[in-house]
Amino acid sequence: MDHQTIEQLERKVQAAYSAIAQEPQARHSFPVGRALAEGVGYPADQLDSLPSSTVESFCGVSNLAALFELEPGERFLDLGCGAGLDLLLAGRSGAHGVGVDFSDAMLEKARLAVDLTGLSETVRLLKADAWNLPFPEASFNVALINGLFNLNPQRSAIFHELSRVLQPGGRLYAAEIVLEEPLHQSDREDQSNWFR
Ligand SMILES: C[S@@+](CC[C@H](N)C(=O)[O-])C[C@H]1O[C@@H](n2cnc3c(N)ncnc32)[C@H](O)[C@@H]1O
Repeated sequence: MDHQTIEQLERKVQAAYSAIAQEPQARHSFPVGRALAEGVGYPADQLDSLPSSTVESFCGVSNLAALFELEPGERFLDLGCGAGLDLLLAGRSGAHGVGVDFSDAMLEKARLAVDLTGLSETVRLLKADAWNLPFPEASFNVALINGLFNLNPQRSAIFHELSRVLQPGGRLYAAEIVLEEPLHQSDREDQSNWFR
């Protein structure tokens, strides 16, 4: 995929997810919000305990929080944190976290939620591209990803960055949408099929 196409896709993804942050109740081309979060298995009482502004803009692909375990004092990265649902749940464990996203609107919501939940001493937000992370080597014990790879053609670069910023023996908890069969070549080349 050429550089120009990658940039076009990136702008589409940024616009789509910023719209979910700004207008969660509007019609989107995929499910978002509380119904999705309950549908993928986040317990209702857990969702009730989080700011509704975060829950309404949830757009992950699974209940990632059912998978991860963090010890107090561990350092974690939530890559593509969106409005911060997993970020807040991970931050509550006492771990120190950074949420990274390339949508300003998502970051604004996540930042507000971090303040509202009293986690601002230990959890911060940063704007960055997933394939070019502004952290030194071995910065984190744990990385969390809830639905980011399927939006990005530069997956090898993202995996490279994850292996660089995770310390040796670090853990990656990732949830993703996967194809059950390979895409037909013509569908692979049609940009409108990449992101709808
Ligand atoms: C499917 S949403 C999931 C958001 C969040 N993890 C959740 O569960 O609600 C993907 C998020 O990743 C962000 N994102 C996608 N590609 C990115 C990239 N290359 N760099 C940084 N953020 C990215 C989007 O802006 C969006 O907020």
